[in-house]
This record gives sequence, structure tokens and C-alpha cells, in this order.
Amino acid sequence: MLTLLVALFLAVPGGVSSQSASAPSKTLSGRNRSVTVDLLPPELRARGREILQEKDDETRAELANNLAEDEPEKARTFLLTLLDQDRSAKVRLEIIDEIGLHSNPATRRSLEKHAGSDPDVAVALLALERLRQQVTEEARQLLNRRGEMARRAGDVEGSRLIAAEQERWISIVRGTMLPSFLRVPPAPWSLMPSDRSIRVLAFGDYGDGSESQKSTADAMLKFHRTKPFDFAVTLGDNFYEEGMMSPADPRWKSWWEDLYGPLAIKFYGVLGNHDWKLSDSPAAEVLYSGKSQSWNLPSPYYTFSAGPVQFFALDTNEVSAAQLLWLEDELKRSPARWKVAYGHHPIFSAGKHGDTPALVRRLLPVLRGRADVYFCGHDHDMQHLRSDGGIEFFVCGAGGAETRPLHKDPRSLFARDTHGFAVIEADNESLKVTFFGTDLAELYSYTMRK
Ligand SMILES: [Fe+2]
Repeated sequence: MLTLLVALFLAVPGGVSSQSASAPSKTLSGRNRSVTVDLLPPELRARGREILQEKDDETRAELANNLAEDEPEKARTFLLTLLDQDRSAKVRLEIIDEIGLHSNPATRRSLEKHAGSDPDVAVALLALERLRQQVTEEARQLLNRRGEMARRAGDVEGSRLIAAEQERWISIVRGTMLPSFLRVPPAPWSLMPSDRSIRVLAFGDYGDGSESQKSTADAMLKFHRTKPFDFAVTLGDNFYEEGMMSPADPRWKSWWEDLYGPLAIKFYGVLGNHDWKLSDSPAAEVLYSGKSQSWNLPSPYYTFSAGPVQFFALDTNEVSAAQLLWLEDELKRSPARWKVAYGHHPIFSAGKHGDTPALVRRLLPVLRGRADVYFCGHDHDMQHLRSDGGIEFFVCGAGGAETRPLHKDPRSLFARDTHGFAVIEADNESLKVTFFGTDLAELYSYTMRK
């Protein structure tokens, strides 16, 4: 009897029920298969047991989300069964949020079922959104296969057509409203004559309205009053958590104009992963350029020169073939003494996120032998790393968001998890990068010479 009670307790915890008439199991699955840890491989059963025994909905939701994130394949059957039976909408949302990212026929059927009939509207909408991503991703794979066929056949014109179409499909798969007229980079332009030396402010990962963002912006302004910047480049994650609602979002004033407007210089930004979250955010950030004296994002990627440096602003969220073709062309034709590429994600990093394999594989070969410096954010710290290939890698994602510890890395020349900003100073002979803390203490400096 005791064994039976324990078994029942394990199978039917606080919010999970295969019997209740109000539970999604009746409405959605039409069957009463119990969710048990037997649906998991032995090594994951302790985690499954913890989820099933947890009575608090928030905690159970977090545990289920963590399991889905760590073991999307091995835990799929268990999680999809839990999804059908857990009475907490919060738990169902967290399971769908994570497991829906991985394309699979069983997951697809489950998403269709919850999109059509989950009693909670928010759960149904998230299921539909994840379903949309899976369906469009499959269609994009067809396009990619056709692109590969064109490349193998040596069809240059066809490959360019498909590359442009692949870029449009990035927005379709992400569900982002970014029309092509907001994606096309403007012709390269010059901010200052090539014989002028320049001083440029650089920082990323800042837009959260925190005290740290404000104190870092204050430090930049103090620095600027004694050693003026000519302009700034920003390294993405401009607005947490999900980017901007529209060009009229009130945070443009409180999180941008009030903090950086006093420097009275132009800022040339890129999009971070957080700026790509709301479906209208990339377009909102491009369009706000027309409303601000300081904010400039003419398109997700673009290039301009200033003094002896040409800057290449990149969209590293998903590097399209069209962007790589554009970048290669622009780097090859650039007469600039120094070439500085910048985007949000690191190619190499000793921070929380580490290296970005897709950028190592696809972006680095285009930069190698052509660019001198790659600047990025995403990891909330300041770093200088060197790998092979003659490019210096700098991370400066310390503009306001909470900093995070780094790990030891043989490529690391400098690493610090503190708030601050970078200053790039360049003339025809040298390019110097210096990191400053919010107290304006110089933390690290490195000079390249040609
Ligand atoms: Fe980021």
C-alpha cells in the first residue's frame, strides 16, 4: 500500500494530474498516460523526480525549462507528456518556450495541439509561434539546399539572388518585420578626412536603465569634457530585454537621449541579440536614426570611414551570405590605413558566452588578412584576446548591464569584469585601444603600429 501511495505521489505532484477534468490532459491529449520518470533515461530520472515532486508552479516551471534546455532530445517524451498534463500554464509556457526551439515531429504535433486548444491563450499563442518558427525554418532549409546547388554549379548570379533571398528569410524565420529598404546598407561614406587623427568611444550591452548604465554614461561624459570624442561606436544589446517597441518608445528619451545626448556626438550602432527580440525592434532602431541627433543605425550592417580608419558595422545575430559577400567586397576595395570591424557577438571570448562557432567558421575567414581589429560586446566584460591571423580581438560589453566573471584562456591578454568603456585613438602610424573604468582609471592599453 505504501509503495502504491509513493508511486501515486511521484506520478501526480502539486500541479500535475492525469485525472482532473480541468487538466489539459483531458482536453488536449484525450488519453491518460501518466507522466513518470520512466519516460526519462536513467541518468535524468533524479531531475525528473525533482520536477514531479515540486509543488510550487514557478519552481516546477523553472526546473522543466532547465531540463528542456539541457536535454532537449533525451527529455523530449517526458516533457511533452508533462506538457499535456501539467495544470499550471506557467509550466506549460516554459516547456514550450524551450522544447519548441527544436524541430521534431512529436514536438510539432504537440505544438499544433496546444496552439489549437490549450485552455490558456498565452500558452496557445506561444505554441503557435514556435510552430511558425519550425515550419518556416524547414522552408528555409529548402532555400539553403538550392543555394548550395547553385554554388556547386558555379552559378554566380543565381548564388547572389539566393543570398539576397536568404537574408529576407532570416526575418521570416525570426518573425521580424524588417523590410528590405531598411536592410540595404547605404553607400560607404566619410565622416572626417583621412589625414586627421581620431578619438572614438566604444561600448556595448548598456540599455537597461540601471544605475550602472547611468554611472558608465556619466564617466564617458566626464572623459569627453577633457578629451573629446569625435564620435562613438556601440556594440549592441542597445535595449534590454527585448529591444524597442517603436521609434516612439518612451525609453528612447530615458535610456538613450538623457544619458548619451549630452555628449553631443554621433553614435554608430549595431544590433545585439536583445535588439532582435521584439518583431518590430530592428526596424524601430533603424527608423529612430531619422529622429535623433545622436543615434545612427542606417541598416543592420554598413561601413564608413573616419580619419585613417574604416569601420565595418556588422549584424552578427545571423550572418547572411549576402552580408559576407558585401563585407568581402568592401574590405577588398577599402583604401583605409586601419580596418576595424565591429558587431555584437564575440568571435573569441573568455567570458560567459565564449567563442561563437558560426562566426569562427564564417566571419573570421572573411576578416582574416583584411581587418586589423574586431570589436564586440555580448559578454559583459572587457577583454583583449589574440588568436592566429593577425587580428586583435576586443570585447567591451561593459556599458551598464550586470558584469559577469571570466575564465582563464591562453589567448587572453587582458580580462576584467567591471563596468566601463573603450577608447580607440588612431592616426596614420598607430591605433591605440584603452579601457577605462567608471572612475576613469586606465585599466589597460594596447597600441598597434604600422
Ligand atoms: Fe548580447
